Amino acid sequence: MLIKIRNSSDLKDHDVTDLDDYYDRRSFIRSSFKYLTYGALANYGMMFNTSHASFDFTSAKKSTFSATEKLTSFESITSYNNFYELGSGKKDPKLNSHLLRTNPWTITVGGECNKPGTYNLEDFVNPHALEERIYRLRCVEAWSMVIPWLGIELSKVIKRFEPNSKAKFVQFESIYDPENLPGQKRRVLNWPYVEGLRIDEALNPLVILAVGLYGKDLLNQNGAPLRLVVPWKYGFKSIKSIVKIRFTDVQPKSAWNVSAPHEYGFYSNVNPNVDHPRWSQKRERRIGSFLKQKTQIFNGYAEEVAHLYKGMDLIKYF
Ligand code: MTE
Repeated sequence: MLIKIRNSSDLKDHDVTDLDDYYDRRSFIRSSFKYLTYGALANYGMMFNTSHASFDFTSAKKSTFSATEKLTSFESITSYNNFYELGSGKKDPKLNSHLLRTNPWTITVGGECNKPGTYNLEDFVNPHALEERIYRLRCVEAWSMVIPWLGIELSKVIKRFEPNSKAKFVQFESIYDPENLPGQKRRVLNWPYVEGLRIDEALNPLVILAVGLYGKDLLNQNGAPLRLVVPWKYGFKSIKSIVKIRFTDVQPKSAWNVSAPHEYGFYSNVNPNVDHPRWSQKRERRIGSFLKQKTQIFNGYAEEVAHLYKGMDLIKYF
């Protein structure tokens, strides 16, 4: 429902206070402030539609997959980001976060499955149990964090849409809104941002669709309202602000692979033995720690995922 909100400059004194109050300066300031604050908040929400569904995380289950390392601070997780749609500097996603419109939000599921459809965010998420998953996130740029995500297991979501026997891969697509997203006004990447997984990778129980972190709804800079988290792959596979999921019989495109195929492979499993052409992947800087630490094969999740790549040449399929 649309409600017309007046600009604060349109306000007359009699709009904000009665005459008695007018002479009571403290009260006048109080009531004006209240009115202006409500007006500003309502305007803000209407202009940008930045708030989305709020989830109840109080009963989110703790997971045995969770890491036990020291958590990266909320401040670092939400202010040091890669989200090129909101700018290419690390601080840009937070500074421009208000430009991402997350309400209303729908997710369209299609391709090789028996139950395609378009769902609003709540209907997409609510049939599934929320869990807390504390995961290491290793960026291809050789920094890392430990993040307490809240989300739903992707394998359970996939099963609900009944992929058919032709579904060999899953493709994910981010929001496309060049009018509002400053990064999409420039051809830094081929927009919209897309990513993909082999279906057996996508069905691995480690993969989640996150809707929150640190007990709160996901902030826009972290990929609100719904983003992928694949903890054994470089961070760019963990695509943000997802609007489409598609089951395919051919390997889908992925944004960084299209942009620089010799630097970013489709698989992009964390691997200290395969360097990036321009830097080493042997070590990483844990945000908040002074010394660098060794990078682990599959980001430390080998026990859960190494079987997916049995017999595969991980240098060729980087
Ligand atoms: N998803 C979209 N749509 N756009 C992006 O620019 N950056 C990726 C990934 N997902 C990116 C994205 C990269 S390079 C990383 S390291 C992670 O998001 C960073 O997630 P974070 O900012 O929540 O730590």
